[in-house]
Amino acid sequence: MTIIAISGSPSSTSRTQRLLSHLLSLLEHDGRETRLLSLSSLPGDAVVRADVTAPEIARALANIDKASVVIVGTPIYKAAYSGLLKIFLDLLPQRGLDGKIVLPIATGGSEAHLLALDYALRPVLQSLGADIVLPSVYALDRDIVWNADGDVTLDEPLRARVHGASQQIGTLVERLYARSYTAATGMCVEPAARVAA
Ligand SMILES: Cc1cc2nc3c(=O)[nH]c(=O)nc-3n(C[C@H](O)[C@H](O)[C@H](O)COP(=O)(O)O)c2cc1C
Repeated sequence: MTIIAISGSPSSTSRTQRLLSHLLSLLEHDGRETRLLSLSSLPGDAVVRADVTAPEIARALANIDKASVVIVGTPIYKAAYSGLLKIFLDLLPQRGLDGKIVLPIATGGSEAHLLALDYALRPVLQSLGADIVLPSVYALDRDIVWNADGDVTLDEPLRARVHGASQQIGTLVERLYARSYTAATGMCVEPAARVAA
């Protein structure tokens, strides 16, 4: 059972990516296997030409296919999610998020576009077949502060929201994918609704 986070920022000093890394570290701390996919590291030419046979893109799509949880992170650009994220989502199969838990996350410069994830991205994630789209996490630039060492500090309410999202993912994963066996009998005592491949 893996969790993948997609960063849709083209920036080399992306706040979105730092926020995703923070969330993934919380999930790793709880014993989850995680992976970060930075879309800006994919070959631009292949992305623009929708060349899904390019090895880096094929690998990225395969990793999404294997994941049970997909965290979709984006900066807010022009009142919506980034174009880079859209180009990449267009490479997924029509039901590419079928059976997956999905969490949308955005960073934005202002509160004006707080709902952008819900009016712009959520319908796309749902049309891709996501089983569950969790409540979005929206962060303001000013709530993610760069430290001298290149790390970031999150404003307390944002830190709490990210922590809450990580716990929500953990609870759902346990409910949907975990199987508990008694060591003595090898019997499954809590049959899962679905077992990850
Ligand atoms: C081209 C561009 C368009 C932007 N448009 C908006 C916008 O419409 N609304 C908003 O709140 N912030 C907007 N911003 C600010 C970014 O969303 C914000 O700085 C974000 O944290 C950047 O994330 P990143 O560091 O991961 O790239 C825009 C930034 C850029 C570069």
